[in-house]
Amino acid sequence: MSNGRSFYITTPIYYPSDLPHIGHGYTTVAVDTLARWHRQAGDDTWMLTGTDEHGQKMLRAAAANGVTPQEWVDKLVEESWFPLLRTLDVANDDFIRTTQPRHEERVQQFVQALYDRGYIYAGEYEALYCVGCEEFKPESEIQDGTGAFEGLKVCAIHSKPLELLQEKNYFFRLSEFEDRLLELYRDEPDFVRPDSARNEVVSFVKSGLKDLSISRSAFDWGIRVPWDETHVIYVWVDALLNYATAIGYGTDPAQFDRRWPAYHVVGKDILRFHAVIWPAMLMAAGLDVPRGVFAHGWLLVGGEKMSKSKLTGIAPTEITDVFGSDAYRFYFLSAIPFGHDGSFSWEDLSARYQAELANGFGNLASRTIAMIERYFAGVVPAAGAYADGDLAVQRTVADAAAAADAAMERFRPDEAISAIWTIVDALNGYITDNEPWALAKDDAQRERLGTVLSTCAEGLRALAVLLSPVMPASTQKLWEALGQSERLVDQPLRDAGRWGQLAPGTTVNGLAPLFPRIEQ
Ligand code: MSP
Repeated sequence: MSNGRSFYITTPIYYPSDLPHIGHGYTTVAVDTLARWHRQAGDDTWMLTGTDEHGQKMLRAAAANGVTPQEWVDKLVEESWFPLLRTLDVANDDFIRTTQPRHEERVQQFVQALYDRGYIYAGEYEALYCVGCEEFKPESEIQDGTGAFEGLKVCAIHSKPLELLQEKNYFFRLSEFEDRLLELYRDEPDFVRPDSARNEVVSFVKSGLKDLSISRSAFDWGIRVPWDETHVIYVWVDALLNYATAIGYGTDPAQFDRRWPAYHVVGKDILRFHAVIWPAMLMAAGLDVPRGVFAHGWLLVGGEKMSKSKLTGIAPTEITDVFGSDAYRFYFLSAIPFGHDGSFSWEDLSARYQAELANGFGNLASRTIAMIERYFAGVVPAAGAYADGDLAVQRTVADAAAAADAAMERFRPDEAISAIWTIVDALNGYITDNEPWALAKDDAQRERLGTVLSTCAEGLRALAVLLSPVMPASTQKLWEALGQSERLVDQPLRDAGRWGQLAPGTTVNGLAPLFPRIEQ
């Protein structure tokens, strides 16, 4: 059902040495929801995620555990990172690992091409390096250590000592791209979103770019520089290229042309790599820059960026084991304006689960199905003449569907969900106003009762379709309860707001609570 419009979207590739926490899960479900939306809307969609497996951080973690780096990453990817996708119900089209030959060979090809075009030169380098960030730190992110690190320079992000590195390095002529990058940000105002992220990137580039060290010779866990076997390629250059190698850069031109350019969704911590270095690398290679980079905010726990190293890390399974994957997806995507930081708390999660999912959406679904069973023997009645209140519900559905699509186009799943929620609220209000249980007591109101319950059922039909990218599991149950045999994921999203798609005469099936009560 493709309309030919390409939509290629990526998550960052994760360092497998950290166990997955809810911050990684947040990026992943946001991208999955956007991808599911576009796929179900008929866009030619491809969603990529994966793992970033080279670099000093991985090498040290493996050594500390007494295994080779390859054994180390294989184990973590298998035991932690593949399962994360199932835990969160993610429908990715591909998973790239930077240790795969399909990646390593094409990274060498890309870097060789930059070298041949004169964008890489050899030089001496001495600078402070943070292994946590895998980055030579700019002045602004270097601080004086305190406590145990008194007298040392520490990384502003990791609060751990920096290491002074002195080596011969190969450099990428990043400084040559200042003007072209500024033109890009000016001509494509949506290249970096939201505006706060765009402003940060523009002022960073305006303050002047230095050439980038793109190789390391002090260790060998990486991809060899093709013209100098004593160096490996800097892990960030290697990692960024995953977005191109995964779709056939250098091997499958048809696939590459079909997919590229991509939309990248990243945490704001890694915005500069994606919005400055990566487009410059692509420009140097003569390839198109990405369609856009969207930077989301951080999940904060107790007011701090949640991270495993600061011991505030929460595993996604801690949430999904209790609330389920749909609630996880719904909670993070609806509660935090996408692009802003958001505080996580168990109280907030429980309260929203109860109010919005159990009492709001779940209860609406259960009682509508139960009333159709009780009053119409499980068969969706035909509507009679529509009154103003019925027509208002129809308008709400049409408006919500259009607003949700527009919000998803803007990379705002939070706004899309709040648009869709106007349907939940409207239908709950409609049931209260129309009191179908009272209508059922009066034979003269039989037709009116049919109109009311068919309106509710049709509203639920729209909700199942519109919410399926956000909550694939519960909407599937609702879809089956509505007696539908076609696949929910095949229901065209951009047509979801059109009234009257659920045929009268359809037989509904009993529905267990979509969001069961949770014992505190
Ligand atoms: N490997 C690099 C990315 C290379 S992409 C070419 C990396 N990996 S990471 O595992 O450390 O983090 C990846 C992403 O996880 C972040 O960009 C962000 O999207 C997400 N998050 C990690 N901690 C987070 C929070 N506390 N809150 C929200 N997202 C967080 O960086």
